[in-house]
Amino acid sequence: MKYFFANWKMYLTAAESRSAARSLAGFSLPEGIRAAVFPNTLAFSAAADELGGSYWQLGAQNVDSTPQGAYTGATSALMFKEAGAVYALVGHSERRHIFGETDEAAHNKTQACLDAGLIPVVCVGESESDRKEDKRQYRLKKQLFQVFTGLNLPSGAALVAYEPVWAIGSGEPCAPADADDVAGWIKLELSQSFGLTAAVLYGGSVTPDNVAGYLEREAIDGVLSGSASTRPDSVAAMLAAVEGSG
Ligand code: PGA
Repeated sequence: MKYFFANWKMYLTAAESRSAARSLAGFSLPEGIRAAVFPNTLAFSAAADELGGSYWQLGAQNVDSTPQGAYTGATSALMFKEAGAVYALVGHSERRHIFGETDEAAHNKTQACLDAGLIPVVCVGESESDRKEDKRQYRLKKQLFQVFTGLNLPSGAALVAYEPVWAIGSGEPCAPADADDVAGWIKLELSQSFGLTAAVLYGGSVTPDNVAGYLEREAIDGVLSGSASTRPDSVAAMLAAVEGSG
């Protein structure tokens, strides 16, 4: 089983999300693919209306770590669960780098997701300067340890997205063989240090042309697509590429 996750970021309005979701609901998914859409918060209900009864699941792009209370502008994991979310992205690099989210915040949000019954998708990735300074493993290990240390994860299963920051939105994806090595390394780290069985997705400039190359890799359990996933024709092309390679 492989994951196909569509992170719509802040690209689509509610009306555009509804229309894109309606198209996606009509697509048949290739065998063995589990798919989910992560719409903008305000577009979540519209997308949920359209995808209800289809094979597509829904996820939150960002949750607050507190269930309820005086937190202006925030939306809790519990509220997303109520609205129909199954997953939530945590620690996405845009949250870290644009909104200043710390590893500690990523830990708290991950726990909040688990407490609310959402499956957290823990995003990790090295920056361009980490890459130049040969600090990839150092950065990934730090991010993984900050999130998973002290986490109450009774299932023993983790879902991680490896998203090198330099590959996101850049048109310069990480080579599938390289991403596969990193995915294997993440699995080993989480197994040895925390006793967890992890599924690892790859994200960063995934397109119809390269998606199959990731999904055919042994250690890569799926992809997290951003901008390409906002266009239904390109989602259809990605699903067709997956089907064709399977
Ligand atoms: P991208 O984004 O596909 O637009 O590079 C991926 C992500 O940030 O999840």
